[in-house]
Amino acid sequence: MEEFPPTKSLGRGIRTFKPRRSRITKSQQFAVDNPKELTILYQDELLAWPTPTTALYLDIGFGNGVSTLHFAEAEPQAAFLAIDVHTPGVGDLLSELHTQKITNVRVMETDAIAVLENMVAPNSLAGVYTLFPDPWQKARHHKRRIIQQSILDLMHSRIALGGFWHIATDWAHYAQSISELFAQPSNQMQWTGGEINRPDRALTRYEARATDEGRVVTDFRFTKI
Ligand SMILES: C[S@@+](CC[C@H](N)C(=O)[O-])C[C@H]1O[C@@H](n2cnc3c(N)ncnc32)[C@H](O)[C@@H]1O
Repeated sequence: MEEFPPTKSLGRGIRTFKPRRSRITKSQQFAVDNPKELTILYQDELLAWPTPTTALYLDIGFGNGVSTLHFAEAEPQAAFLAIDVHTPGVGDLLSELHTQKITNVRVMETDAIAVLENMVAPNSLAGVYTLFPDPWQKARHHKRRIIQQSILDLMHSRIALGGFWHIATDWAHYAQSISELFAQPSNQMQWTGGEINRPDRALTRYEARATDEGRVVTDFRFTKI
């Protein structure tokens, strides 16, 4: 099982994901083995991509990458850094980037929290997408949720003034806890925004399943003030 870099924002050993050994198809494996210039490896150094004047967006936990592809095609002048730990999804996104000759995306297969902590400069991000984060349903697992106070603080430090954090969830109790968290007085002084109508974004596997199962999807957009 792959080792992930240590992080400081969450308690020792706490990860917002569960490392999974999943079946990988030949084409996913081929894309992972032949990433060309489309991947960035984790290192304890600030990102050297894109150029400083290019708007940089993060897609944290991109799944199979359909949202990243959608955003990257819609904004070809901007740069998108897509981060996930799930190798088959990394293969899917890399395959599509090759096939569609999309050049404004880079892919990282690592813990996004470590990337935010060590590779992203303060006040540098134009925006962050966290779409359908793992809900970690049981109360004893809430410490593994990516939307929690220490990650809000980290995200606030990395997003540029006027930049946004876009979150979508299909779990009502998670949506409720996100609303409550951002409603805290200290967070209200740092962020503005809240629930919004579903914006133009791709329909991901998770959203499709949620809708089939009758769950309501909530989109939030918070802007750093
Ligand atoms: C429920 S899936 C949603 C995937 C995708 N956003 C979608 O809407 O289809 C959550 C994803 O987040 C990833 N993830 C969770 N925590 C992460 C972290 N700290 N760094 C990178 N990826 C993470 C998981 O591996 C998983 O692929």
